[in-house]
Amino acid sequence: MCPTLSAVTKPPDRPLIRTRLDTADLGAAWEANAAAFIAWARKPGHDSYWQFHRDLFLGLVPPPGRRTLDLGCGEGRLSRDLSELGHHVVAVDRSPTMLAAARAADPGIETHLADAAALPFGDGEFDLVVAFMSLQDMDDYERAIREAGRVLVSGGRLCIAIVHPLNSAGRFEGNTAESSFVVSDSYLDPSYHADNVVRDGLEIDFVSGHRPLQAYCEAIADAGLVIERLREPALPEHAITRPHSRRWQRLPLFLHLRGLKQ
Ligand SMILES: C[S@@+](CC[C@H](N)C(=O)[O-])C[C@H]1O[C@@H](n2cnc3c(N)ncnc32)[C@H](O)[C@@H]1O
Repeated sequence: MCPTLSAVTKPPDRPLIRTRLDTADLGAAWEANAAAFIAWARKPGHDSYWQFHRDLFLGLVPPPGRRTLDLGCGEGRLSRDLSELGHHVVAVDRSPTMLAAARAADPGIETHLADAAALPFGDGEFDLVVAFMSLQDMDDYERAIREAGRVLVSGGRLCIAIVHPLNSAGRFEGNTAESSFVVSDSYLDPSYHADNVVRDGLEIDFVSGHRPLQAYCEAIADAGLVIERLREPALPEHAITRPHSRRWQRLPLFLHLRGLKQ
């Protein structure tokens, strides 16, 4: 494409704009944003998944077993990568548009249009459940975690990646590596927010819930799991693309948890 034309038609990159919401229907918001997310997730090298996050998460994931459930699979990139690694993947998402994209990309992966809070599976059918960057986007994350515990066999594992609750509780005041991070609302009270991001010609609204770390840990314990691992990944050096990205080397972007079903 002519460089002048692409400069005119592409919206310029800008830092994330966060809007606090009094209430949200997260399931409906993700269906509404599905087309934007599919474009975002599939652009090669575009987001943290490709830059470093998938590989860090896979470091938490046990080797392939009998059956692996991908909760909130989106357009299916992690399902496809796990399948490539030898997992027998079953993928679930509540958004029809996301699930259709996942099915079309790999018809060989078993997919179900379902709410993670009411899984269409029997007890103990899986030895691994992964929920990669999806629980913060679910309305009833506690029931979803309980359901994950129910469908796991004893000795099975739940691997979770979410936006770190510290990240979702506040924001950097400025755009430099040294900018202060401020929590002006409550860390402890659950809340909702929409993060609007424009990067490399793509725009998306990530509509999510903030819940404190304790809320996730209690839900995991109530589901009959013990936490084996808790990791707080920050931005690795090789993923620094702009000077202000360094802010995210002082605080964790994500939270990784691995639970073992008793
Ligand atoms: C940020 S996307 C992550 C998708 C995928 N795991 C990835 O990393 O590419 C969050 C996904 O969670 C799904 N989701 C939200 N609420 C859900 C629910 N109650 N049950 C199942 N999926 C849900 C959304 O439709 C969306 O596809």
